[in-house]
Amino acid sequence: MSAIENPAASPASGHGANPRPATGLPSPALNGKVRVPGDKSVSHRALIFGALARGETRITGLLEGEDVLNTAKACAALGAQVERLGNGEWRVEGVGVGQFRAPDAPLDFGNSGTGVRLMMGAVAGNPIAATFDGDASLRKRPMKRVLDPLVAMGVEVVEEAQGGRLPLRLQGLSDLKAFTYETPVASAQVKSAVLLAGLAASGETVVVEKEATRDHTERMLAHFGADVRVEPHGPHGRRITLTGRPTLVAAPVDVPSDPSSAAFPLVAALIVPGSDIVLSAVMMNPLRIGLIITLKEMGASIETLAERTEGGETVADLRVRYSRLTGVEVPPERAPAMIDEYPILAVAAAFAQGETRMQGLAELRVKESDRLAAVADGLAACGITHRIEGDDLIVTGAPDVEGGGPVATHMDHRIAMAFLVLGLASLKGVQVDDMSFIATSFPTFMPMMAGLGAILTEGA
Ligand code: S3P
Repeated sequence: MSAIENPAASPASGHGANPRPATGLPSPALNGKVRVPGDKSVSHRALIFGALARGETRITGLLEGEDVLNTAKACAALGAQVERLGNGEWRVEGVGVGQFRAPDAPLDFGNSGTGVRLMMGAVAGNPIAATFDGDASLRKRPMKRVLDPLVAMGVEVVEEAQGGRLPLRLQGLSDLKAFTYETPVASAQVKSAVLLAGLAASGETVVVEKEATRDHTERMLAHFGADVRVEPHGPHGRRITLTGRPTLVAAPVDVPSDPSSAAFPLVAALIVPGSDIVLSAVMMNPLRIGLIITLKEMGASIETLAERTEGGETVADLRVRYSRLTGVEVPPERAPAMIDEYPILAVAAAFAQGETRMQGLAELRVKESDRLAAVADGLAACGITHRIEGDDLIVTGAPDVEGGGPVATHMDHRIAMAFLVLGLASLKGVQVDDMSFIATSFPTFMPMMAGLGAILTEGA
């Protein structure tokens, strides 16, 4: 019986079996300068583009978290040569567009929606069949949003688990139909899957998005020599046009620091009294800095010390000091620029004066966990007043936050990190039930936070 007929028997990865509780304890002022690891979105794409290009792509600053390492393994299983040269330094010898070989075994993407969804798009334009799988969290997440446009381009879904879920098997083909797709959800993963498939289509593949989402795929397409045009569409959207069948040429990628990881020490410094830290070389891509904009509206002291360009992205050193925050309304159109940051924003909001209303959070329900529910349950476990109204989360701040737990993290790295940070500024600390998934995106989180002075302990 195949993995798809009997998912329980398949080799889906995951820590789940050995949960590792951890606690964030009331901490003294945080101080020091740190550089958080490389950006997860850029890291996945660097490997995938390296595998699709001809020649040797050198990558520096690659995030060596589990999500990205799974993408590296998938690239190798599809025929690219992928080699780790040193700390964050990798080389990928690509095979060229349409030249992937059929993998011998199911591709296991662990916890990563980005890895699996982008790779489905990259595999689509090859005349091979491949099985895609992941851990228990990834198996719950919707894949139809990617399958629908890929099928319209000519891909065949050979097998799928119920409801278009993993594990699933796709048959790609070398001659996909060029396609114009208006994305029904604001998702960079869906956009990227269609564009990656569009590499193998003759003619122009167009993606229209009502709300602009992170543009790392578009930037990397251009960086690797594809002809890609980006135009505004409506008040918040974009229209991206890719000319199919380019020769992608290997190009070096210097991965900047991940603003979504920087968010955790950043908010920690804002809520732990007396803190004063510097986060160096944080990527300031305009489609990724919704959290910084929001926190500044709340009164956060975040100073941009040195803005410069590194690896095609603007980066900056950020000096962050403890601040008295005030609640704000976060408009729904800002969600794509801070989609991964709502758990940690909810933590900041717990310490702000008054209400913070975060609007339009429907997409949070289909992340690594149902993040809207997980955040609400975590806030409840820590004694924080909040409510959900439709797709909005409203948090009422207070100067003294009790803390407590254990907070259920539901195989979600960002829920674990957000509530450990909350513990640092709480009265009695916060325990989370499992810190192991932090390794998917920020493997150095615990020692890096400890280096700033945070008191974090592992164990029940
Ligand atoms: C990502 C896109 C976002 C984000 C994820 C990374 C990407 O997901 O939540 O962490 O690299 O394209 P969606 O596209 O589902 O919004």
